[in-house]
Amino acid sequence: MSSPQTATSAQYDPVAVRVRGFGATVFAEFTALANATGAVNLGQGFPNFPAPDFVKTAAQQAIAADLNQYARSAGHPRLVHALAQVYGPLFGRTLDPMTEIVVTVGATEGIFATVQALVDPGDEVILLEPFYDSYPAAVIMAGGAPVYVPLRAPAGSHSAAAWALDLDELTAAITPRTKLLILNTPSNPVGKVFSRAELSALAEIACRFNLTVLSDEVYEWMVYPPAEHVRIATLPGMWERTVTLGSAGKTFSVTGWKIGWAIAPQPLAHAILMAHQWIPFAVSTPMQEAIAVALEESQARGYFTWLSAMYQAKRDRLLTALAEVGLPPMRPDGSYFIIVDTGALPVAGAPGARRDIAVCRWLTQEIGVAAIPPSPFYSEPHQHLTDNLARFTFCKTDEMLEEAARRLHKIKMVH
Ligand SMILES: Cc1ncc(COP(=O)(O)O)c(C=O)c1O
Repeated sequence: MSSPQTATSAQYDPVAVRVRGFGATVFAEFTALANATGAVNLGQGFPNFPAPDFVKTAAQQAIAADLNQYARSAGHPRLVHALAQVYGPLFGRTLDPMTEIVVTVGATEGIFATVQALVDPGDEVILLEPFYDSYPAAVIMAGGAPVYVPLRAPAGSHSAAAWALDLDELTAAITPRTKLLILNTPSNPVGKVFSRAELSALAEIACRFNLTVLSDEVYEWMVYPPAEHVRIATLPGMWERTVTLGSAGKTFSVTGWKIGWAIAPQPLAHAILMAHQWIPFAVSTPMQEAIAVALEESQARGYFTWLSAMYQAKRDRLLTALAEVGLPPMRPDGSYFIIVDTGALPVAGAPGARRDIAVCRWLTQEIGVAAIPPSPFYSEPHQHLTDNLARFTFCKTDEMLEEAARRLHKIKMVH
């Protein structure tokens, strides 16, 4: 007979079911591989250039001013006021800074807190594929069920705009348990900017089926003319049922500061706050002060216009480099990502790994430029759609983009 102690240790199984299916993210694997091989890392989307001086100065002053204690849970007053000032005109309404905005630990916590606030166990959430990888995880941790509807691009497409949603497929996926639809525009990883017509069709469906929309708009300032960023919350009937997320990390090139926000009508914002108050409780006070100052100054400085022009030039530089070496790119209208067609590369799927993963390993190890395979942005049954795709980012210095272009030329020799 075993002792009670042995029985106890044999049964020791501390990990909750909700996280057992999660593995390391694709970014962890490819950043490690890029570091180990000395590859130019055009994989993970974080800017490698300095943040603007006016933003850094604001943070230094906030630290010097001893803004050291807990912030108001829903957001530091100066920041929510600055957000209401910037976003009010963009939403075409006066935003109440104290009841319609919740400051979060990056948009990532905005996603998690919103899903916690709105999704009950068993509720279904529509995720458009390719999705940002934290969406299914947030839904699963709330006990909800992700339901996947893919965007599809006709073969040989050269533009992110060609990726389209089949509205019949979408409506067929909606059931009486469907609660929420998560939208991402401009999108990661495709760089698609949903048009007003596409968003109007989605809005009509959301109203018809009484859905709430979580609209992740973290790349809102990286939209390249003639594309325009339309906020679904501004379409008829949508303000009441939309949560819009933004990110200071993306907007001011400070992804490590982890400041984001949710903008929503009072009942939804209140529900998000009820979840948020038990997740981080509050967000870093001096960093919120710094982002408030940055937002207050950004319009007078023409910062948003500068940001999108800066990224558009980088996009065009990388588009040219990719096209030149036989990696036909799908021209993004927004975000800082480019999807390319890798079909012509002489790389087969490795045993146990999808072809896109094998191709991205090959690009990293043999060509010296890391890219991200898009299959982790799809549910398993749809992962074959990405076999011939890879995602590159251009949120890097011009020197780094030039070095990547130089190395990518090696591809021409293997064609
Ligand atoms: C679509 C999308 N949403 C949210 C996030 C996370 O934003 P944050 O860094 O503010 O948490 C990212 C970051 O890559 C993203 O691509």
